[in-house]
Amino acid sequence: MTTTTTGTPTTPKQSVGTAHTRVDGYEKVTGTARYAGEIPFADLAHGWLAVSTVARGRIRSVDDEPVLRMPGVITVLHHGNAPRLNTEYIGMLGSPPDPTCAVFQHDRVPHLGWPVALVVAETPEQAREAAEALAVHYDREPHDVALSASRTDTHPVDGFMPAVTEKGDLEAELAASDVVLDAEYTTPEEHHSMMEPHAATALWDGGRLEVIDSNQGATWVGSELAKLFSLEPDAVRVRSEHVGGGFGSKGVRAHQVAAVMAATALDRPVRVVMTRRQMFSLTGYRSPTIQRVRLGASADGRLRALEHSAVNLTSTVFDFVEPAAGPARVMYGAEAHHTANRIVRLDVPTPTFMRAPGEAPGSFALESAFDELAEKCGLDPIELRLRNEPDRGPVSGLPFSSRNLRACFDEGARRFGWAGRDPRPGVRRDGRWLLGTGTAAGSFSAGAAPSTAVATAEADGTFTVRIAAADIGTGARTALTLLAADALEVAPDRVKMRIGDSDFGPAWLAGGSMGTRSWGWAVTAAASELKERLALGADIPPEGITVRSDTTEALQALTQKERHSFCAQFAEVAVDVTTGEVRVRRMLGIFAAGRIVNPLTARSQLVGGMTWGISMALHEEAVRDPATGGLYGADLAGYHVATNADVAEIEADWVADPDPDDPVGLKGIGEIGIVGAAAAIANAVWHATGVRHRNLPIRPDRVL
Ligand code: MOS
Repeated sequence: MTTTTTGTPTTPKQSVGTAHTRVDGYEKVTGTARYAGEIPFADLAHGWLAVSTVARGRIRSVDDEPVLRMPGVITVLHHGNAPRLNTEYIGMLGSPPDPTCAVFQHDRVPHLGWPVALVVAETPEQAREAAEALAVHYDREPHDVALSASRTDTHPVDGFMPAVTEKGDLEAELAASDVVLDAEYTTPEEHHSMMEPHAATALWDGGRLEVIDSNQGATWVGSELAKLFSLEPDAVRVRSEHVGGGFGSKGVRAHQVAAVMAATALDRPVRVVMTRRQMFSLTGYRSPTIQRVRLGASADGRLRALEHSAVNLTSTVFDFVEPAAGPARVMYGAEAHHTANRIVRLDVPTPTFMRAPGEAPGSFALESAFDELAEKCGLDPIELRLRNEPDRGPVSGLPFSSRNLRACFDEGARRFGWAGRDPRPGVRRDGRWLLGTGTAAGSFSAGAAPSTAVATAEADGTFTVRIAAADIGTGARTALTLLAADALEVAPDRVKMRIGDSDFGPAWLAGGSMGTRSWGWAVTAAASELKERLALGADIPPEGITVRSDTTEALQALTQKERHSFCAQFAEVAVDVTTGEVRVRRMLGIFAAGRIVNPLTARSQLVGGMTWGISMALHEEAVRDPATGGLYGADLAGYHVATNADVAEIEADWVADPDPDDPVGLKGIGEIGIVGAAAAIANAVWHATGVRHRNLPIRPDRVL
C-alpha cells in the first residue's frame, strides 16, 4: 500500500505531488488580496436589495416616492420600472436560469426574502436606510413550507441524472432475503453561508459590460449575464480574482443582475453586496431530505435487494433536485436495484448545489443503513461492504475507470486500529462518556469539462499562464501553477498563474469537483505545447511566445466509464450520557481520488470536508417557521456550525489511484471529503450508545 504522506523535494522537473504553500497566501493573510466588495471605483453608487416580508402573494405597490427624497438616494428599481430580461435559454450547466436571479420581472412573490426592489444611493449606509424604509404592499396568499414524509405531491424530476432507475423485482428479492432492513432517514435544511458574502460591481466601459464579482466561474457568470441581458458573449467581461468561499452557491444570483440593471440605468458603476441574512434566502442552500432505504441480503451479507428513494423540496419557480438516491447507483449492486429522486414544490427559496449535492445526504442514509444491515447480519461493517463491492457500475453496467475503495478500507482500518473492534454497542466507558467507533464509505463523480488556457513564454525567462479558473479557497491557483511548472519543466516560481477573468477564454467552473482537473488539463496542454515550441530553439520576441489550448476534442474522445473517487471514513465518538452531548474524538478519511497535485492544500480541502461532516452530523439545521415561512435565526449566530472546539483530531490521506485517462492522472477532490463523514459519526454514536440516529443533526435532546 502506498500513501502519499510526504512529497519528494521540489526539483525544477517535478512539482506535482509535493507540498507547496499557496502562491496567493501572502496576499491573503496580509489583506492585500482585494475581494469583489472592496475594489475601489470612482463615482461608485451602492445598491441595496429590499426583499419580501411575505412568503406568498403579489406586490400591490412599491411606495418609492418617499424613499427617493431620502438623503443620497438616486433611484429605486422594481418590477414596475425594471428592464425585461431574457430568461428563455439553456445555460452552461444545461438548465434554464433560476427565476430567482431574474429580478424584478413580475409582481409575484414565491417565498419570504424574495428580491422586490433595489435602492441605489451614494453610500451603502444611505442605500440600506432607504431600502429598510421602503414600503412595499402585498396581497398575501396562504403559504405552504412544510416537507413531510406523508406528502403525496412528489414528482420524479431528472435534474442532472435520471430521476428513477429500476432493475429487477424488488418485492420478490426482499421476500427471498434472509435479512431485511427498512428504514427512513432525514437530513435538515443546511446552508453554505461562506465567509465572503456575495458581492458584485457592474459598470459599462467602452461599450462592454464589466462585472467584478465573487463567483465560482467567470465564464459561467459572464455567459449567463450575456444571455439574461441579450448581449453578445464578448460584450461581457467578468472578473473574480479572489473568492472567499463558494461551496456551490456562487453562480449567477440576484446581486449581479440587479447591479447590471442599475449600472445600465445610471451609466455609472454600481455595487451590490448581500447581507448575511439575505444570503439565507437568495443564494441557495441544501434542501432537507426524507429518504427511505430498503435492503435485503442473504445470511452471508450479499445484497439481493436495494431500494433508495429520496424526496427533497424546491421552490415553486425552479426544480432543483438534491439527488440523494444517486450514490446507491455507484456504490452497491443487487439483483433488484431501485432508486428514485423526487421533489415537492413549496413556497420556499430555491435550493442549490452545496458541497457534494446528493452524495452528502444520500451517503448518510445509505451508509447508516449498511451499518444497520451489518448489525443484523452479524458482520463487521467493513466486511459487509467488501462483500458487496461491484466489479462494474451496478446500474450503468460500465467498467470503472478505477475503483480503489477496498484499498481505502485496508489502509484506513490499519491506521485507525479497526482490527479486533468489539462489535457490541454500549459497552465502552470513559468516566461519564460512552465510547464508540464507526465507519462509512463514500464516492463522488470524477469528470472533466472543456476549457481553454493560454501559456506565454515571456522575454525575461518567466512564464505567464492565463485561464478563467476560480480559486474559491481550494488552492486551485497553486495547483495549476504546479501543473504548468511540470509541463514546462521549470520551478514553480517561474510561473505566474492568472485566473478569474472571462477574457482569458472559456473555461469550466469551480464545481462538480471538476474545476482543477478541467483547468489542469487545459493548462497542461498549453504549457506542454509551449515547451515543445521552445525546445525547437526559437528566440523569444519582446511580446513573448503564446500558445492557446482547448480540451474540447480530447474530452469528446474519452470512452464511457463509471468515473468516481472513493473514500473510507472512520470516526470515534464519546457520548455524555447525562447531557446527550456527542464529541468526535478523532476522524480518519482515506481517499482514492486520483493523483494528488499539492498534498498540503489537498489535505486541507479533505479535512475541511470531514469537518463539515462533523457539522452536518451534530450541529447544522436551518429551521423554517411554518407561520411566517421564513427561517428562525437566519444568521451565523442562529445557524450552528462546528467550530474549533468541536474538532479534535482529523487526518486525511490517500492511496495511489491515478486516473488512467487523465493526462496527469487527476480525478478531483473538491467534494468527497464530506461524503460518508456524517454516517461514520452516526454509526459511531450507535456503537457508543446502542441507539440508532436516523435524523440529523444528532442533537443532545435526541440523544437523551
Ligand atoms: Mo460544488 S456543490 O459543485 O460547488
